[in-house]
Amino acid sequence: MRTKVIAGNWKMNKTPQQAAELIGAIRPLVEGAGCRVLVGVPFVDLPAALDAVKGSAIGVAAQNCHWEKAGAFTGEVSAEMLCALGVGTVILGHSERRTYFGETDVTVAKRVRAALDAGLEVILCVGETLDQREQGITAEVVAMQVKVALGTVSGQEMARVIIAYEPVWAIGTGRTATAAQANEVCALIRRTLAGLYSPATADAAVIQYGGSMNAGNAAELLAQPDVDGGLIGGASLKPQDFAAIVAAARS
Ligand code: 13P
Repeated sequence: MRTKVIAGNWKMNKTPQQAAELIGAIRPLVEGAGCRVLVGVPFVDLPAALDAVKGSAIGVAAQNCHWEKAGAFTGEVSAEMLCALGVGTVILGHSERRTYFGETDVTVAKRVRAALDAGLEVILCVGETLDQREQGITAEVVAMQVKVALGTVSGQEMARVIIAYEPVWAIGTGRTATAAQANEVCALIRRTLAGLYSPATADAAVIQYGGSMNAGNAAELLAQPDVDGGLIGGASLKPQDFAAIVAAARS
């Protein structure tokens, strides 16, 4: 049995003070969750978030990191810097990074390598665009993203990699993948991992769904055999909604 992981991706929302307040509101609602709970916050909110989760089981994730340890990379943050703060997890390859900031499968792979080398856990995001789905190439696109991003990752290191399947057309649109669609691609990712590593590694891997997951649809999505959690955007900013998704993962 895989433990489900519910992770909020706050994207570019909340000041440090607001982050502390939001975590303060979430904390009592998700206590005793039978799943892992993470909040993925903006860089500047990390110290406040780490402070606010103290004494709880909530983990804190960053939303990106660079592949070099240090150097002339204006605006970037290294995996080592995140580790030094006490951050345990980093979201990498999110479609917003790919669409708006020129991330490619190759740069995502470099970031994954650096994060794992630094000791971080990675949430690796993959997913097809609407055009790609309509062309019938979802399986090829997603398998390719997974294979390139994990190109240097060993089977042992896979214990620190979570994969989030996030169809781009479902992100922030209110248009959720059906439970069957979500499960189909999560299962495809698992088969891809079995081919890259072993059936046992694939079986142990946590594969989340993300894209307009909310309090109303979470239970059905999370009941799918290959969906091991959720990466939640909009609904993660609303304590009651986020807690309802966590509760759905528990049942
Ligand atoms: P929404 O839940 O707002 O669709 O965002 C999903 C997402 O991008 C999580 O990383």
